[in-house]
Amino acid sequence: MISQDLIVYLNGEFLPLHQAKVSVLDRGFLFGDGVYEVIPVYGGKPFRLAEHLERLDNSLAGIRMDQPLTSEEWGDMFARLIQGMEDQQIYLQITRGVGPKRDHAFPKGVAPTVFAMCTPIAPIPASGVKAITVPDIRWQWCHIKAVTLLANVLQRQQAVEGGCAEAILIRDGFALEGAASNLFAVLDGVLLTPPKGNDILPGITRDLVVEIAQDNHIPLEQRKILEDELHNAEEVWLTSSTREVLPVIELDGKTVGKGQPGPLWLRMNALYQEHKEVLRKG
Ligand SMILES: Cc1ncc(COP(=O)(O)O)c(C=O)c1O
Repeated sequence: MISQDLIVYLNGEFLPLHQAKVSVLDRGFLFGDGVYEVIPVYGGKPFRLAEHLERLDNSLAGIRMDQPLTSEEWGDMFARLIQGMEDQQIYLQITRGVGPKRDHAFPKGVAPTVFAMCTPIAPIPASGVKAITVPDIRWQWCHIKAVTLLANVLQRQQAVEGGCAEAILIRDGFALEGAASNLFAVLDGVLLTPPKGNDILPGITRDLVVEIAQDNHIPLEQRKILEDELHNAEEVWLTSSTREVLPVIELDGKTVGKGQPGPLWLRMNALYQEHKEVLRKG
């Protein structure tokens, strides 16, 4: 539960959550017309901030909106929202603002709605999680981090109702990513992850895992993963800013590998944690 007294940012003001209100004519509410970011914070410092802000720029450009704040302004605002040194996450959302009426086409001369808050991150279940595969019913511009998440909401809910932590999305016979995470699989000792394109979100955690694999000579291929390959993988991982590198130990009711986090995950997770520690101590 988020405290109603938490200080959040809304359109240039810092105020308690219970006072932060937007109009029912806000286009985020009416159309899901907006984009967002989730940035982890370790030791009071945002992790991979430049990369998150660059993706925000790309998402905004993708929906034909201007960036409302400079990188410096975002940084200053986050510094005021971050409380203490525990692990946290910044959520930020920008919508196309409040139009004069409900009309699909863009309103003219309207200021965007800019919202941000900082809340604790839940600990990661290092023992691994269960996942299911589901058809990918999302739109075709999955590279944009849009707030329009109804398909992802339905997919994740299906997973939760099946006692699973995530739904892995299948499109045209390929496993693409999770409802809110990127996908890695280990096949014949090679780490596989789907290439970036319009059909997946370019995850910041994904990029870091790729970077770590390359720096440590872990065999890696960025290529499409067949649904069948996923089901026969030695290891399956999901990555996201809040779940880090999460091992999947059961997929569609069948054990993955030996039913426990695999040896490559153990190595990758240790390397990933080192990056967090560098930020904490730096
Ligand atoms: C669909 C989707 N893919 C991948 C990710 C992982 O991205 P990141 O590592 O930047 O958190 C997310 C994060 O929420 C997501 O929603």
